[in-house]
Amino acid sequence: MTALTQNELKILVAKKAIEYVPANAIIGVGTGSTADLFIDELAKIKDRIVGAIASSNRTAERLAGYGIRVFDVNEVRSVPVYIDGADEIDPQGFMIKGGGAAHTREKICASIAERFICIADASKEVDVLGKFPLPIEVVPLAREAVARRLTAIGGLPIWRVKDDQPVVTDNGCHILDVHDLRITDPLAMEQELTLIPGVLTVGIFALQPAHVALIATADGVKERSYR
Ligand code: 5RP
Repeated sequence: MTALTQNELKILVAKKAIEYVPANAIIGVGTGSTADLFIDELAKIKDRIVGAIASSNRTAERLAGYGIRVFDVNEVRSVPVYIDGADEIDPQGFMIKGGGAAHTREKICASIAERFICIADASKEVDVLGKFPLPIEVVPLAREAVARRLTAIGGLPIWRVKDDQPVVTDNGCHILDVHDLRITDPLAMEQELTLIPGVLTVGIFALQPAHVALIATADGVKERSYR
């Protein structure tokens, strides 16, 4: 038997996540390639749900393209589940997110969710967060000031650019990707970095952790329950 590709693993976990979608509800939907595949599966059962809140313009467009009703987060008090990928997840269900520059809205959606269901392939599981450069969304005029503070704590912040242009988030902000951090205390670091003036959102999800992770492996999808 040939090994599954990373994309095949993502499809596997996207299909599995449908079992966690409650009927007649508005659910939260994340951003990224795994979330995109989940939306493709969600489209097949769209008549079972009322609609969704989206963690990015990209996700809102994909949902709407399938005829799934997209609600503004302001219209919704809470959602039973928020389903999203991650760049890294540790043994406590703490994550790094923001590889797709959507972590501010992802954190907001997660904050009004009863359960965060993380969907990922096994390559995202780590013992200690930080090998994946930590995305931090910053107000553009504070970029250098924030970068200096990050350097002072031992990080190497790199301004995220694409096609020679700064990446601009859905919130009109920029991203610093911080290399060389070993995040042994995610809760403390999330709080410390969030307090730096000019930081909009830190890509550590420890205050807003996963309740459950569905991890796609060569032996099928494993469910990890954290809380
Ligand atoms: C976007 C995110 C994504 O969840 C994360 O980057 C994982 O993406 P993918 O499913 O493409 O591997 O945090 O901001």
